Amino acid sequence: MAAPCTVLALESSCDDTAAAVLRRTAGGATEILSSVVRGQAELHAGFGGVVPEIAARAHAETLDHCVEQALEASGLGLDDIDAIAVTAGPGLIGGVVSGVMCAKGLAAATGKPLYGINHLAGHALTPGLTDAVPYPWLMLLVSGGHCQFLLVRGPEDFTRLGGTIDDAPGEAFDKIARLLGLPQPGGPAVEAAAKDGDPARFAFPRPLLDRAGCDMSFSGLKTAVLRTRDALIADQGGLTEQDRCDLCAGFQAAVADVFAEKTRRAMDNYPKVADQTPVICVAGGVAANITIRRALETVSQEFGARFIAPPLALCTDNAAMIGYAALEQMAISGPSGMSLPARPRWPLDQTSPAMLGSGKKGAKA
Ligand code: KG4
Ligand code: ZN
Repeated sequence: MAAPCTVLALESSCDDTAAAVLRRTAGGATEILSSVVRGQAELHAGFGGVVPEIAARAHAETLDHCVEQALEASGLGLDDIDAIAVTAGPGLIGGVVSGVMCAKGLAAATGKPLYGINHLAGHALTPGLTDAVPYPWLMLLVSGGHCQFLLVRGPEDFTRLGGTIDDAPGEAFDKIARLLGLPQPGGPAVEAAAKDGDPARFAFPRPLLDRAGCDMSFSGLKTAVLRTRDALIADQGGLTEQDRCDLCAGFQAAVADVFAEKTRRAMDNYPKVADQTPVICVAGGVAANITIRRALETVSQEFGARFIAPPLALCTDNAAMIGYAALEQMAISGPSGMSLPARPRWPLDQTSPAMLGSGKKGAKA
C-alpha cells in the first residue's frame, strides 16, 4: 500500500483559471476534495477568440484566489498538502507561465515537491478519475483547442493515433454559429438549432474518410456550409429559420459521422487485453453534444466496448484532472524541481509528428 497523498493542483493554460485539491488514500482511491474553475469568457467576448495577453493577466490576478478558494472548500490548509501540481504546457504561454510561477512560489514557500503536468495528459487520464477504469482506453479529445485520438496505456504511455490537420471541432462549431448569426459559444447554439433541422437536406462532405488512418479535417466542411449558405441567400435573398436549422443539423451530422468512422479505425489499434472490456472515452467541450455522444455510443456497442463521457465539469478544462495526472505519474516519475519550464508546445506522444499551426485557443500540440 502506498502512503496517502494530498495534492493541490493549478490549471491556467487557456481561458479557465482553476485550482483543485485531491486526496489519494492508502488503498489507491482518489477523491476530489474541491475543484474551483473561473472562466474568462466575458473578458474575451468582444474579440472573437481568446486574447493571450488578457488571458495571462487574468490568470495572474485570479490564481491566488482560486487556490485560496480550493483550500477553503477542501477544509485543508497548505500544511496539509503533500505536493503541488501545475499544468506546464501545452497552451497559451502567458497563462502557462502564470500557473508555473504561482506553483513554484507555493512549492518554495511550503517546501513541497512540484510536479509539472501535461494538460493533455490531464484530459486523457480523466476516465481513471471519474470511473476508476484500468488501463488501456481510447480517448477522443475534442474541444475548441484540441482534437486527437489517444491510446492511453498508462499514466505516461500515450500513443497519438491521429488528430485534426486544420481546425479543432469546437472551433468549427463556433465558426458555423458565426456564419449563421447564432450566439457564441457556437456548439450549444448549433446543437439547439440542429434539433429542429433535417440532417439529410444538404449533402455535406465527410472529410478524410477516403484517407486511411485517424486524421480529421473540419476546414473544408466549414467552407461547404458557407457555400451552401451563400447559395441559399443568392437564391432566396436570405435564410429562413428552417434553413439555419437544416444547415446546423447537416453540419453536426457530418462531424458525428467523421468521429464515428475515425473511432472505428482507431479501434483497429486497440490492444487486446484478456478478460478486459475495451473502453472508449470522449472528453472536451464538444463531448457535451448529444448527437456526437450517441454516435460514439453506437460505435462502442459495435466493439462490445464500454463508453465513458466524464461529467461536463471534468470534460472541460479543470485542475482536478491535473491533480489526478500528478497522482498517477508520481509512482513512475519524480518531482519536476524548481527548474520546471513552461512549454507552449508539448506533444504527449513524442514519437508522432508535431501538429502544424495554432488554433484560436493556442497551439494544437
Ligand atoms: O473544452 P472547452 O470548454 O474549452 C476549450 O476549448 O479549451 O470546449 C469549448 C468548445 C467550444 O468551441 C464550444 O463551442 C464547444 O466546445 N462546445 C460544443 C458544445 N458545447 C460546447 N460543441 C458542440 N456541441 C456542444 N453542445
Ligand atoms: Zn483542455
